[in-house]
Amino acid sequence: MTIERPAARPANPRFSSGPCAKPPTFELNKLAGAALGRSHRAAVGKDKLKAAIEGTRELLGIPADYRIGIVPASDTGAVEMALWSLLGERKVEMLAWESFGAGWVTDVVKQLKVDAEVKTADYGQIVDLASIDFNNDVVFTWNGTTSGVRVPNGDWIADDRAGLTICDATSAAFAMDLPWDKLDVTTFSWQKVLGGEAAHGMLILSPRAVERLESYTPAWPLPKIFRLTKGGKLIEGIFQGATINTPSMLAVEDYLFALDWARSVGGLQGLIARADANAQAIFEFCDQNDWIDNLAEDPATRSNTSVCLKFTDPRIRDGASFAKAVAKRLETENVALDIGAYRDAPAGLRIWCGGTVETSDIQAMLPWLKWAFEAEIAAQAEAA
Ligand SMILES: Cc1ncc(COP(=O)(O)O)c(C=O)c1O
Repeated sequence: MTIERPAARPANPRFSSGPCAKPPTFELNKLAGAALGRSHRAAVGKDKLKAAIEGTRELLGIPADYRIGIVPASDTGAVEMALWSLLGERKVEMLAWESFGAGWVTDVVKQLKVDAEVKTADYGQIVDLASIDFNNDVVFTWNGTTSGVRVPNGDWIADDRAGLTICDATSAAFAMDLPWDKLDVTTFSWQKVLGGEAAHGMLILSPRAVERLESYTPAWPLPKIFRLTKGGKLIEGIFQGATINTPSMLAVEDYLFALDWARSVGGLQGLIARADANAQAIFEFCDQNDWIDNLAEDPATRSNTSVCLKFTDPRIRDGASFAKAVAKRLETENVALDIGAYRDAPAGLRIWCGGTVETSDIQAMLPWLKWAFEAEIAAQAEAA
């Protein structure tokens, strides 16, 4: 039996969960104004770094008294800088429901050896958010990129908390509403929802996080790359574009371009609407097809960026090789690139739905997913 290929193809087959698709209007020559070959401390470079910080503040609605810094090593750099600089003052609750959250648990428990209570949930589920004691510091991932499970909102975070909340929001920022009054430390990378480059991380600090930095010195040594204070005072320059070490001005220019594009589609609310529409198209596809389902069990926790899917057809004999084979067919046809589930996640697919992806491309890709599924079921039967 030959299974007919769909007629239309996505204009852009890039559905990777990071680096994510560039904004639809991106062309390399749009970066021609980059301050290349100049000192990042010269006025031209500093102005661009400042514009990146203030553009982030404007688009994400970050309060004026929060500090926003551009730091080394993408989101990982920003998160680890926060963990190493802030933790140890009190007990910490570590919340994890997928691989990146689990990575932060390893940092805290095995490397820093801080007094920690670890709360984990399996892929597809989330921890009991009602069980958290906000006298402790709390570390969590807003959107679990590898399970497609996100916190539904910030209502579970206490307003009168004594501890700090430290939130890895890398696959949430620019796609979900982040309640800044609930978040003391927030991090993300340019490579995710805005389709930027991965070089740098963003570190966003509430006034309470700054107070902790200025009143507490961790017991362990901090490399220069992590140091946010000098002589017990915050290094304010970091939050005004005087980066700790040399940034990539090409990546900065690319981020400025992405911010401009974000403004052109209606800013944060426009970006959220785009991600929601993309994810909704996939949710409906799952409703219409009984062989595929969202990995996230509770609809309230379903991601609108990293949508993770599992195959549920009882005819499938080897789930991992089946999912890989479907992803391979889609890649070979150049209709969907990089959509295999994350290496540590359950077998399945992960389709990026952040705002740089066009809904028309998701819609054009889904019939191909059905095609690849049916072709693989047929191939499995033939092999038997
Ligand atoms: C939730 C989460 N945290 C951290 C990272 C690591 O990000 P980066 O490679 O930008 O440091 C990722 C990357 O996919 C992620 O999804």
